[in-house]
Amino acid sequence: MIPTIHQKDRLLYEQIYEFYKNAILSKRISHRHKLPSHRTLAKELGVGINTVLKAYEQLTIEGYVTNEHRKGLFVNMIDSKDWQVQSNKKQRVQKKNTQTTIKAAFNTSMQLVDENHFPIRQWRKCSNWAMDKVSFQYQEYEGEDPLKKPLIQYLLNYRGVHATPERLLIGSGTSVMLFWLAFILRKSCSKIIVEEPCYPRSRLPFQEFGYEVKPVTVDHDGIDLKSLKKEKANLLYLTPSHQYPTGVAIPVSNRLQILSWAKKNRAYIIEDDFDCEFRYKTKLMPSLQGLDQSDRVIYAGTFSSALMPSLRVAYLVLPENFSVDYQSYRYLTTTVPYFTRKTLAWFMEEGYWERHLKKMRTIYKKKYDTCIDGLKKIPGNKISYNNTPSGLNILLRINARLSEREVIKRALDKGILVTAAGEFYFNKENRPRQPEVLFEFGSIPQDKIEKVLSTLADAWFSS
Ligand SMILES: Cc1ncc(COP(=O)(O)O)c(C=O)c1O
Repeated sequence: MIPTIHQKDRLLYEQIYEFYKNAILSKRISHRHKLPSHRTLAKELGVGINTVLKAYEQLTIEGYVTNEHRKGLFVNMIDSKDWQVQSNKKQRVQKKNTQTTIKAAFNTSMQLVDENHFPIRQWRKCSNWAMDKVSFQYQEYEGEDPLKKPLIQYLLNYRGVHATPERLLIGSGTSVMLFWLAFILRKSCSKIIVEEPCYPRSRLPFQEFGYEVKPVTVDHDGIDLKSLKKEKANLLYLTPSHQYPTGVAIPVSNRLQILSWAKKNRAYIIEDDFDCEFRYKTKLMPSLQGLDQSDRVIYAGTFSSALMPSLRVAYLVLPENFSVDYQSYRYLTTTVPYFTRKTLAWFMEEGYWERHLKKMRTIYKKKYDTCIDGLKKIPGNKISYNNTPSGLNILLRINARLSEREVIKRALDKGILVTAAGEFYFNKENRPRQPEVLFEFGSIPQDKIEKVLSTLADAWFSS
């Protein structure tokens, strides 16, 4: 049996080894079968003798074959009845994974950033500087984190957030930080109130750790205060600057009432300030943490929407007198490489971050305005939307007799990937009656936005 070797991106010896290994495990070649001599096989395959020797050596070390003196290589007796089952399982998993990667010309289904305006030259410069003094050691022994100083300054200047180096924890993504939080609070807290609808990855860690999760509806002013006041809980998760996915912001009078609720209940508010950087018609909304006088807010921020999600840098600012002794668990949050922190620190200190933010605000504002113009051109109130000039998404309500599934399918048939807002609801019965989809415009080219919207309208309304 001669192997087939045709994978360009894999080493030749690995392909020979893999071929025989699979043939032996699947019983295509049986016990005592003799493998071709290394010279014959090298000639057949047109590869070097050493390549075959290396593959044979690996098979021998792992016990698939035995080299019998002067006779050759023989297949060993191997009990592989479970192997077939496992490999079938692997294929099923692989199939499932590939099914979720759908190709579409435009992806409006998740928050993607505009890549064309990233200051790559400046980033490269900072990354070179960071490389000059890169640390080889565990970060816990590093002492000062280079990113903390510029980040604390930025948080104070732009978000009115008060942070100190001890209370600022940096980790690779909001979800990771929330997972950590759910872990360290699991012994002292048992119930969390979440917004309904809510970003599923934010509530998931709390569900996984067995917290009671209580959804409270979001209206035009954010979380419904009347319902909130009836609830008791130790934790409340909020996106006050730009509620995800509805886009609404919580006005200051409601913020103050939410803070009093937290004080009364001795509850912590997890303020997820995602997308706070982008407000197009008014000034930035100051953070809830900056208003808090009772030390009840845990502030969560990320570089995902204003810089790049692939960077995986997010952070938490804990209250001054946090009830949990978190210091002994903070090593679990040091998931961002030192090199990345250093690069980002330079990027901020050199003023590139501020400049980038300013530029992206103008770019996304233009895109937002184009979305609204495009939506206004769709006749007959077929698509309604929350006009909340902020963030990188608009929630669209489709006024048609279509199910969520049909809405997604019809959009995909036209090459556009959308997410139904139904996915954001904790309780199925709270899902909106009319289908709603999230229109994430961040990565859609400015000159394509109107076309994408009119194509969607076509998909949903022409029968
Ligand atoms: C509410 C909310 N928070 C945070 C994030 C970003 O999370 P991360 O920092 O893990 O990229 C998102 C992304 O869509 C989000 O919707």
